Amino acid sequence: MSTVYLNGSFMPKDEAKISPDDRGFLLGDGLYEVTPFYEGVSFGFDRHLERLRKGLAWLRIDFDVESLIDMHHGLIEKNGLEGVDRSMVYMQLTRGAAPRTHYFPEGDVIPTIYASAKEWSRPSDEVWQRGFTAVTVPDRRWSRVDIKTICLLPNAMAFQDAKDRGADDAILVRDGVAIEGAHQNFWGVYGGAVVTHPTTGHILPGITRAIVLEEARAAGIPVEERPIQVEDLPCADELFFTGTTGEVRPISQVDGVTIGAGGVGPITQRLSDAFLALVDAVKEGAATAAS
Ligand code: PDD
Repeated sequence: MSTVYLNGSFMPKDEAKISPDDRGFLLGDGLYEVTPFYEGVSFGFDRHLERLRKGLAWLRIDFDVESLIDMHHGLIEKNGLEGVDRSMVYMQLTRGAAPRTHYFPEGDVIPTIYASAKEWSRPSDEVWQRGFTAVTVPDRRWSRVDIKTICLLPNAMAFQDAKDRGADDAILVRDGVAIEGAHQNFWGVYGGAVVTHPTTGHILPGITRAIVLEEARAAGIPVEERPIQVEDLPCADELFFTGTTGEVRPISQVDGVTIGAGGVGPITQRLSDAFLALVDAVKEGAATAAS
């Protein structure tokens, strides 16, 4: 039985109980973060906390995110994940339990904080080198997906659509633009430059995206933050996703069309290598910028 965290206490998962009046349950009134740990060392933690801080300000939830740091490390330790290659903490923070109203409830409503930790694994090198398939799916989400809310039904529907069509993932399309994946940011390589959607209300400002952008710039690879038109997908030299548990993930096929030479393109490979090198440096305490 895994150990989870709920409102100030660690407990076995089956003892965690949340009120049916919780606004997360009733209205999706809450935020979440998924923070990676490599051999028990957090990666990009400050950035995850900063994104959460911004989201809380947008939702007008008064909560000090610094208080979550020890809890994250505690969950990793209590679940025996310190020596594990890759693990993550899923943390969800809702406005709390209150009689159902559409407006934000007045008075002292205490946010609900729930978190769990688990291991995840990178696909085998053989699978990764083959690349992943994707299909385009309409982006049915709202116009503030930069706020990492728990309202993920359109993402789940898009992913299910991809699964039904036999693909590994979905590329969400809005107004003719390939925006991002169902749970990852989306990138293309055109004429030697890496291209990814700018951080507007239409994408989640991914922490992995920000780190990979920095790695690309440091490697002298030209970077363009601009929309990618869906009709330009088949002629991309390379396409890939980035995300916490996907890291850098090559896309070899979109809607049945092979991208580039199929498999992993050279720039995707370079960025993935740079990303994993940074992970190693952070694990060894040689780099702190991203942790
Ligand atoms: N997904 N875009 C969307 C829609 C996402 O849900 C995510 C993260 C990302 C990548 O963000 P980051 O690099 O910060 O993980 C982009 C999380 C991991 C999830 O829902 O499980």
